[in-house]
Amino acid sequence: MKTSWINRADRLSALPPYVFARLDELKVKATEQGLDLIDLGMGNPDGATPQPIIEAAKEALNITKYHGYPPFEGTADFRQAIANWYQRRYQVDLSADSETLPLLGSKEGLCHLALAYVNQGDTVIVPSPSYPAHYRGPAIAGADIYAPILTAEEDWVLNLSKIPENVAQRAKILYFNYPNNPTSATAPRSFFEEVVSWAKHYQIMLVHDLAYAELAFEGYKPTSLLQIKGAKDISVEFHTLSKTYNMAGWRVGFVVGNTDIIQGLRTLKTNLDYGIFSVIQAAAQTALQLPDTYIYEVQQRYQKRRDFVMEGLTKLGWNMKPSKATMYLWVQVPRNSNSTDFALNVLQNTGVVVTPGNAFGEGGEGYVRLSLIGDCQRLGEALQRWENAGIRY
Ligand SMILES: Cc1ncc(COP(=O)(O)O)c(C=O)c1O
Repeated sequence: MKTSWINRADRLSALPPYVFARLDELKVKATEQGLDLIDLGMGNPDGATPQPIIEAAKEALNITKYHGYPPFEGTADFRQAIANWYQRRYQVDLSADSETLPLLGSKEGLCHLALAYVNQGDTVIVPSPSYPAHYRGPAIAGADIYAPILTAEEDWVLNLSKIPENVAQRAKILYFNYPNNPTSATAPRSFFEEVVSWAKHYQIMLVHDLAYAELAFEGYKPTSLLQIKGAKDISVEFHTLSKTYNMAGWRVGFVVGNTDIIQGLRTLKTNLDYGIFSVIQAAAQTALQLPDTYIYEVQQRYQKRRDFVMEGLTKLGWNMKPSKATMYLWVQVPRNSNSTDFALNVLQNTGVVVTPGNAFGEGGEGYVRLSLIGDCQRLGEALQRWENAGIRY
């Protein structure tokens, strides 16, 4: 049936194609050609969710009241577990009732926050490169996005002094994320202090995405924005259980911080969704209560992979600084190439999927992101294929 008269909303047509969807198409083609793909494209953690979390979910499945609609604001137990975790992890006090909100994954929350706060034409600052939802959410909401370029010279840390005065004056929200996806950069505590006083001066809401709160190496402990004095007056911080706890498919995350900001998001969500299956909230609660030894094991696993791949890339001519956090390596493409060509060349000639850096915004041009997914044997196979195909820096 002809449907050409059904036009998509402008807000949808204005969005560039979601790069992971495009990569998926190319992956399907490559698989059809018989290539055994090694997918280092998405940050989709491999391996099972830890057993205690699975057991908690199994037990919760037997609780009949959990089979109905969950409370809009999340279960009281999960919210309390979030507040306790914040106290234990960051020594930050939160009211479980008014300063925490469970989410159907942080991607959902990050995008919905924009719908709750952005009017058509409002200015939102989103550094480039960035995790796509930081840009897409505000774009869907009709924001006028100002995208300061992060640079290797500045260690991918946002330079606030480069944001023009007239942009800062009119901006409503700044999204940012350290440890950073895709660059794997971390920001010093001094940056967090600076961004709070800058945002207070210009009356800008801060949205910090702390997805990689626990994936840090060699004793490095990422800063929570809420540890900075006064930050809670103007900020919210997003978390996901997808990465640390291998729970990407369960769809659970949370946001914490300023009561009023959270209340706006809650109001929007009350009208859009029914919240998270209570069984999953019970499982997530257990995850946040796992002992630190579990976190240490996860960190060791990713650190080992980081070291292994960096060593392999060094043999192939790359010269890289070890990242202090995340599950990614941010790899410069050879001088005669660009992000897209390099990623396509690698996919077609080796069956290894990496994400072109420009998929995260123009500031990512010249790089590809490689996810540390799979054991060292599989990662070694990927590096061997690069060597065989003559892929070098
Ligand atoms: C920085 C960042 N934020 C949020 C997410 C999404 O997490 P979730 O699975 O909770 O939606 C990701 C996933 O890659 C991410 O890298």
